[in-house]
Amino acid sequence: MKTAILADLLDFTGDPGLDDLDSPAVRWRPDHWLLIGDDGCIAAVQPEAPGDAWHQIDHSGRLLLPGFIDTHVHCPQVDVIASWGTELLDWLNTYTFPAEARHADPAVARAAADLFADALLAHGSTTAVVFPTVHVASVDALFEAASARGMQVIAGKVLMDRHAPDNLRDDVAGAEADCRALIDRWHGRGRNLYAVTPRFAATSTPEQLAMAGRLLADHPGVYMQTHVAENRAEVAWIAELFPDARSYLDVYARHGLLNERAVLAHGIWLDDTDRALLHGTGAQIAFCPSSNLFLGSGLFGGQQAVAAGVHVSMASDVGGGTSLSMLRTLLDGYKVQAMAGNRLTAWALLHAATRGAAQALRLGDAVGTLEPGAMADMCLWDVAVGPVARRRDALARELHERLFAWVTLGDERNLAETWVGGVRRYQRPTSPSA
Ligand code: GUN
Ligand code: ZN
Repeated sequence: MKTAILADLLDFTGDPGLDDLDSPAVRWRPDHWLLIGDDGCIAAVQPEAPGDAWHQIDHSGRLLLPGFIDTHVHCPQVDVIASWGTELLDWLNTYTFPAEARHADPAVARAAADLFADALLAHGSTTAVVFPTVHVASVDALFEAASARGMQVIAGKVLMDRHAPDNLRDDVAGAEADCRALIDRWHGRGRNLYAVTPRFAATSTPEQLAMAGRLLADHPGVYMQTHVAENRAEVAWIAELFPDARSYLDVYARHGLLNERAVLAHGIWLDDTDRALLHGTGAQIAFCPSSNLFLGSGLFGGQQAVAAGVHVSMASDVGGGTSLSMLRTLLDGYKVQAMAGNRLTAWALLHAATRGAAQALRLGDAVGTLEPGAMADMCLWDVAVGPVARRRDALARELHERLFAWVTLGDERNLAETWVGGVRRYQRPTSPSA
């Protein structure tokens, strides 16, 4: 039987801007039914109850939003989340590389991918752009875990042929063969999409970056993901490694890696020329505020990026980031922008993690929206959990105030259910205590 869900629906019909509290792009449909078709897509949204042919589920009073999109997160790094005391380069060597090396064992990679995919759903993310490891088995494991849950995942084998431990290094020819086989095996199979994934400019030789560019040229529609300009010591190192490049971002541009399907994490230490290049190529920055604060990397200039026409999405960057929750991530993003004197609305934050990310990924018809025809990827949220949030919610005078408090005070404990492709894939096991 087909399913219909009654809840308070929120999504966006356009970009609500950064600070407009009354944006007409906010689509608020309280007490509406969302009807799911046999194909797992949204069939309709309507105020009146559907007929008896529909299995009706009453979530009145709960928020129903499109599933969140986490545009930069590392599957194997669940093992190193919350690791103490280091900046980026030390953090990689001390914690992250040893943890990723364990994924050479396909059994480890499989268990990690299952845990990770379940955890994403339990935090409200239904689409993610993911780094597995350098090992082919970790890519297979991730796409298999995503497929088993019907999730939209963009991922690819991490490329690293220098400045990494022996057990994490590949080479140009072997990596190219692996990537071509993985693209054939996974790109466009079900909801899986492949991303050519040079880890960052420091861990790939110019020859490997050129190979990555060839892969992209040969496979239009394939994505690219990497890191850029995250940490000052890293930026200085890249300048030494690529003395001819104008900037860190320029290294990627020179190797043909920037296009409208490129997702670059961080981008804290960019200049106006870099931002113009991002705008011109259509590449997006995945803003990772939790990670940037935790690793002490810096404060991303969101206002400058948006003013330059750069697409900016939101990302947890676990394990540099400290939570898979996009609500936590949005709150950290709000605080980072507040440090620069900018106050983002809840609309701006929620849009960036739903429709905004979907559009930047060129997946705007499929995810990040409650438009009929889109995939029925969505989450049901309690606006307030616990006495403090409930008190705050009771005093809120209008919708933005309520939802900003939800973003600020909420986390995965507010998540009641997650649906992917019209199937319930997560249900909160126990009712949260008052
Ligand atoms: N730069 C290169 N690799 C990584 C990584 O795993 N995490 C973060 N935050 N930055 C990186
Ligand atoms: Zn990262």
